[in-house]
Amino acid sequence: MTYLANDARYNHMEYRRCGRSGLQLPAVSLGLWHNFGHVDVLENCRAILRLAFDSGITHFDLANNYGPPPGSAEENFGRLLKEDFAPYRDELIISTKAGYLMWPGPYGEWGSKKYLVSSLDQSLQRMGLDYVDIFYHHRPDPDTPLEETMSALDLIVRQGKALYAGISNYPAEEAAKACAILKQLGTPCLIHQPKYSMFERWVEGGLLDVLEQEGVGCIPFSPLAQGMLTDRYLKGIPADSRASKSHGFLKESAITEERIEQIRALHNLATQRGEGLAQMALAWLLKDPRITSVLIGASRPEQLQNSLECLKSPKFTAEELRVIEGILV
Ligand SMILES: NC(=O)c1ccc[n+]([C@@H]2O[C@H](COP(=O)([O-])OP(=O)(O)OC[C@H]3O[C@@H](n4cnc5c(N)ncnc54)[C@H](OP(=O)(O)O)[C@@H]3O)[C@@H](O)[C@H]2O)c1
Repeated sequence: MTYLANDARYNHMEYRRCGRSGLQLPAVSLGLWHNFGHVDVLENCRAILRLAFDSGITHFDLANNYGPPPGSAEENFGRLLKEDFAPYRDELIISTKAGYLMWPGPYGEWGSKKYLVSSLDQSLQRMGLDYVDIFYHHRPDPDTPLEETMSALDLIVRQGKALYAGISNYPAEEAAKACAILKQLGTPCLIHQPKYSMFERWVEGGLLDVLEQEGVGCIPFSPLAQGMLTDRYLKGIPADSRASKSHGFLKESAITEERIEQIRALHNLATQRGEGLAQMALAWLLKDPRITSVLIGASRPEQLQNSLECLKSPKFTAEELRVIEGILV
């Protein structure tokens, strides 16, 4: 059936300015790393994307290698864009990335200009787009001069193949250097995409300060720790969960007894606050004004709906924050 977007889609989402740029992003964005490949059911992908856009999510995050197989999430997204979202292209912020292994030989991964330019051309073709809104370098490359990688991002923006440039997984010091080079080139870094959740807090050791100083936005990925910061694993490992899937990146070995203890304690606190653990985990990140958006995943529409409730989370009291710190040590 032809899709018509919900007229009320902008009524309930919060939009936050991305660093010191002109771009605003929804407080909750959707990533297509898992659940959108050729191994997944296309109609479920469609239902998740429709619900997202109808709920005010304007930002969808991809990468060249998302699937499996690699590239298939971009292909599926391209198909759904064409079938459902083509009239809404100017309401969408679509990002993709290059950095991890995508094709064989010396030009299929890391950070050379050759790889980044070729990879984005392939991504645009798979998605049926003339440009993406944000193009990221996906991970730092220890062997390519940072100047070359950043000048590739600058070139891509000047060519009009991306509107903004971003970096992902860069430690604080390298992020500062990358931002300085991009600024000098005249293509300021828009955004950094690090892994950040209650269970993964490395960004608090300097990166967030660098981003604030540089006026760069921050969009934490895996904010639910791939599902661990939800009720998913409270009663064992469900057969349809990421931890059970052979292609899932969450390994069963990560769900230790100590983890489950923490999850239970956090879940109890969330219940006292009148919400679920997923909402509390997302609200905990969003309480920091340096966080532009939380980049979540969902394997079905109900999960997305549930996570979006974080926009109604009560403010944290000092006591609640203290309890959380006590659980996370
Ligand atoms: N830049 C990078 O290097 C990088 C790396 C990783 C991810 N990312 C980006 O970040 C995005 C999000 O990553 P992620 O999928 O790991 O995020 P996440 O939000 O931490 O985990 C999503 C998973 O949690 C479970 N879930 C989500 N909402 C739930 C709810 N309300 N109740 C119960 N379970 C729920 C689902 O797992 P089940 O499948 O078990 O149902 C879902 O697939 C990716 O799609 C990608 O765009 C970027």
